Amino acid sequence: MKTAARIGPVTRWRNKVEVINGPIVFVPTMGALHEGHAALIRRARRMAGIKGSVVVSIFVNPTQFGPKEDLAKYPRPFAQDLALCKREGVDLLFYPAPEEMYEGDSSVKVCESSLSAGLCGASRPHHFDGVCTVVAMLFNIIRPDAAVFGEKDWQQLAVIRRMVRDLKMPVKIISHATVREEDGLALSSRNRLLTSSARLLAPRIYQALLACSMEAEAGESSVARLRCRLISDLAGIPGASVDYAEIVDESTLLPLKQLISGSTSRALVAVKLGAVRLIDNLVISR
Ligand code: PAJ
Repeated sequence: MKTAARIGPVTRWRNKVEVINGPIVFVPTMGALHEGHAALIRRARRMAGIKGSVVVSIFVNPTQFGPKEDLAKYPRPFAQDLALCKREGVDLLFYPAPEEMYEGDSSVKVCESSLSAGLCGASRPHHFDGVCTVVAMLFNIIRPDAAVFGEKDWQQLAVIRRMVRDLKMPVKIISHATVREEDGLALSSRNRLLTSSARLLAPRIYQALLACSMEAEAGESSVARLRCRLISDLAGIPGASVDYAEIVDESTLLPLKQLISGSTSRALVAVKLGAVRLIDNLVISR
């Protein structure tokens, strides 16, 4: 496995790989890698095949953190991340420093103005501008044929798809299902920050989503009623405060009044358990 902290060597590697051919499949991350990331990397490996290459980036992107968010505290267990990448057969691990990515007087960014507005965007203004900008930069450096993103961050996935569509970026976006603990909690680097009692309660977020999806399958089509039940289940978790719980069209992220057979909707939630904000989502269909 090659590693590189500078853009120059990546560009040279990329030009060489293009000659060898086989797809380049890219998994962008912020590190603190867990089984969710590993699943994305394995998916990338399968897609790339033996001839192709898997590229992983680890970059804790400062521009997607708000002023009061935990940028400095974001975990950076580089040695463990490196070992995981080796184990999963990654061909190139790119881990630039912020100065490598952002010019001192950098003045251009990529802003998505529709899908980013609500849900996580409402409480994290400019978060998705930071995500779009860094992902666009990473795409320009790596020039992948395809990139894998997790469904865990559904809004992020929708925003990235929109960016790629609107800016005609030549990258195929692949989504991978959310990887969960046995008790249903979606894997996240934030889970390790939960207190032991909050950790025991956290799977109730997924249970609330499951109950919502089962009610829809049983015939409930009123989004107001489904959402009401979802919010009350989430609010019933001791110590939880519900940031949002919405049932939306899964590609436009627009709120719905009724579930329509044949079209796909998704429930998206963000819940604070103590100081830790967890997000999750599940498909809701009739
Ligand atoms: P990060 O939070 O490290 O996540 C990297 C990728 O892993 C994202 O596509 C995310 O959706 C996926 N992922 C995380 N937990 C998952 C789980 N339990 N199951 C499946 N996939 C999971 O998302 C980011 O980094 C950043 O915003 C980034 C896109 C790298 C831009 O900085």
